Amino acid sequence: METVTTIAAVRERVRAWRAEGLRVAFVPTMGNLHTGHVSLIEAARRHGERFVASIFVNPMQFGPNEDFAHYPRTPEADERMLADAGCDLMFMPDAREIYPQGSGRSTRVEVPGLSLILEGEFRPGHMEGVATVVTKLFQIVAPDVAIFGEKDFQQLAVIRRLVADLCMPVQIVGAPTVRDADGLAMSSRNQYLTPEQRALAPRIQAALQAAAARVRAGEPDTTAIERAGAQSLEQAGFRVDYFAVRQAADLEPPAGHARELVILTAARLGKARLIDNVQVSRP
Ligand code: PAJ
Repeated sequence: METVTTIAAVRERVRAWRAEGLRVAFVPTMGNLHTGHVSLIEAARRHGERFVASIFVNPMQFGPNEDFAHYPRTPEADERMLADAGCDLMFMPDAREIYPQGSGRSTRVEVPGLSLILEGEFRPGHMEGVATVVTKLFQIVAPDVAIFGEKDFQQLAVIRRLVADLCMPVQIVGAPTVRDADGLAMSSRNQYLTPEQRALAPRIQAALQAAAARVRAGEPDTTAIERAGAQSLEQAGFRVDYFAVRQAADLEPPAGHARELVILTAARLGKARLIDNVQVSRP
């Protein structure tokens, strides 16, 4: 695996692969890689012939009171994990390479509606920051296919929409959430949990599963399901930002006839803000 830090170097490598007719798959990340990220590289293998991963902690997607400065950065370990997973090229730019004018002055990509609800409501500007950096990374890497985790379900929806709206010639593939044995979705932010909080954290997945069981059983009142889910987490000691039953296709509140739903939650436990979701079909 080769590691590069400049846009010019990425373009040169990818251009050479293209010239050989090879299909390029791309996995964007913020580093501090875990098994969940590695699973995306493995998914990429099914869709491409050369693999590019980026590691960039994107300042534009962090709010002023969020963990940008403290976000865990482990470039050496990341490089080893990517090489072991069979990645060909790691792109690790600094902030000036991506935002030469500063991230506050850069052109932004806004996806109306989708980027303002749920995460967008509790993290203003976050989805816009994600949409902007992913657009830039797609312009730099020009992949045939890019893989994103379903763990960040709304992020995946935002990216699918922006790719369609901006006619980007890239296929978007979603990959299933990788979990610890007790059900907690793997996340770099799990490191912020104390041992006591870590023991409580799987309740998030348990609350989502309980809500999904009610949907599967035909319970029509999704607002009651949302209230019960939020309450069970609050009682366990979480501060719940949202616990929402939505249509999987567009994250709108479920119309009566909508069959494919997703239940999404964001809950704070101590210093950590954890998100998770479960997809469920109505009977
Ligand atoms: P990051 O949080 O590093 O995640 C990178 C990718 O890994 C995302 O597609 C995310 O959904 C996926 N991922 C994280 N945890 C996962 C898990 N437990 N199972 C499966 N996939 C998982 O998401 C971002 O970075 C950024 O917003 C980014 C898209 C890179 C833009 O800056």
